[in-house]
Amino acid sequence: MAENILELHDLKKHFPTTSGGLFSRRKGVVKAVDGVSLSIGVGETVGLVGESGCGKTTAGRTVMKLYEPTDGKIIFQGEDISHYSRKQMMPFRSQMQMIFQDPFASLNPRHTVGTIVGASYDIHGIKPAGGVENAVRDLLERVGLNPEHINRFPHEFSGGQRQRIGIARAIALRPKLIVADEPVSALDVSIQAQVVNLLDDLQQEFGLSYLFVAHDLSVVQHISDRVVVMYLGKVMESAPTESLFAKPRHPYTKALLSAVPIPDPRLERTRERILLQGDLPSPMNPPAGCVFNTRCWKVQDKCRSVVPEPVQIAPNHTLACHFPE
Ligand SMILES: Nc1ncnc2c1ncn2[C@@H]1O[C@H](COP(=O)(O)OP(=O)(O)O)[C@@H](O)[C@H]1O
Ligand SMILES: [Mg+2]
Repeated sequence: MAENILELHDLKKHFPTTSGGLFSRRKGVVKAVDGVSLSIGVGETVGLVGESGCGKTTAGRTVMKLYEPTDGKIIFQGEDISHYSRKQMMPFRSQMQMIFQDPFASLNPRHTVGTIVGASYDIHGIKPAGGVENAVRDLLERVGLNPEHINRFPHEFSGGQRQRIGIARAIALRPKLIVADEPVSALDVSIQAQVVNLLDDLQQEFGLSYLFVAHDLSVVQHISDRVVVMYLGKVMESAPTESLFAKPRHPYTKALLSAVPIPDPRLERTRERILLQGDLPSPMNPPAGCVFNTRCWKVQDKCRSVVPEPVQIAPNHTLACHFPE
C-alpha cells in the first residue's frame, strides 16, 4: 500500500474543566482522548468503535483540527499538521471533510440544498467548470438525489436524503479523507444500508479514505477494512476487520462483539452475551493501570497498577492487555 493518508501518534485531547462554579480553584481535566495511535491507508476504511463517551467524536474532531490536540501527532499525507494554525490548515481544509451523525442539525434550515452543497466552492474560492449550479446538480445526482430538488430546503427531505445532502457537501471538493461520525446511527435500519452502500460506491469512484466512527458494530463490520476499538480515550485493540470479529483478543472487544446479534437463528440462540458490570468510569478520573480494569472479568492485581502498552501481536494487529483471550 502507498503512503498512509492519515497517521495518529499517541494523540491526546484533554479538556480543562472547573468544577464548583466561577471562583472554584478545583480544576480538573477530561481526558477525552488519551493516547490514540492509528493509521489509514489510501482508499482504506478504518472503523473507530467503542461505547458512548469513550472519545470517538473528540478523536474525529481533533483529526479535523476542529480541536487543537493536547499532545501527540497528526500526520496527513506525510505532513505533520498537529499544530498548524487556521491559516496553515487552509490548503488541507478541502482535502479532509466531515460527515455528521445528525444530518438535520448540520444543515442550515434556511438555506436551499443548492446553497448548502455549493457553499464549499465559495469558501475555497473554487470555480467548478460549467458553474456552481451544474456542479451541485451533478453532486446531487451522484448521491442519489433528484437534481431538480436543488431549490428545496432541508426539512423537505427524509432523514436518509438529508444525510445524502451532507455527503454531497462533503465530496464537493473531492477530498481525500472523510471523517464520518456515526453517519447512519440516526437513520432507520432500512435506510442505513443504502447510505453505507453509497459511501462504499463513492469510495471506489473517488479513492476516498474513511475514518468511520460508530458504536454499531454490524455497520462497522460491513464497511471497514480495519477496526480500532477505543475505551475511555485509549485504544484497546486494533486489527483487520475479519480477524477482529473472528478472534477478538481484548476482553473489551470480546464484550462489545458479544452484543452483536448473529443473523443465523441457530447460532444466535447459543450466542454468549457478556454484560459489562457498572458504568463507564469518568474520563476526569480514569482508573489507574488498565482503564478497563474496573469492568473486566479477567482483572488481576497487575491490571490495577500497570498500564498495558499497545503491543503488535500480528501484522496490523495491536493489543493493549496483560491477560488477552
Ligand atoms: N468540549 C468538551 N468539553 C469537556 N468535555 C468534553 C467535551 N467534549 C467531549 N467531552 C467529554 O469527553 C468524553 C468523550 O466524549 P465524546 O468524544 O463525545 O465520546 P463519544 O463520541 O465516543 O461518545 C465524554 O466524557 C464527554 O463528556
Ligand atoms: Mg460521538
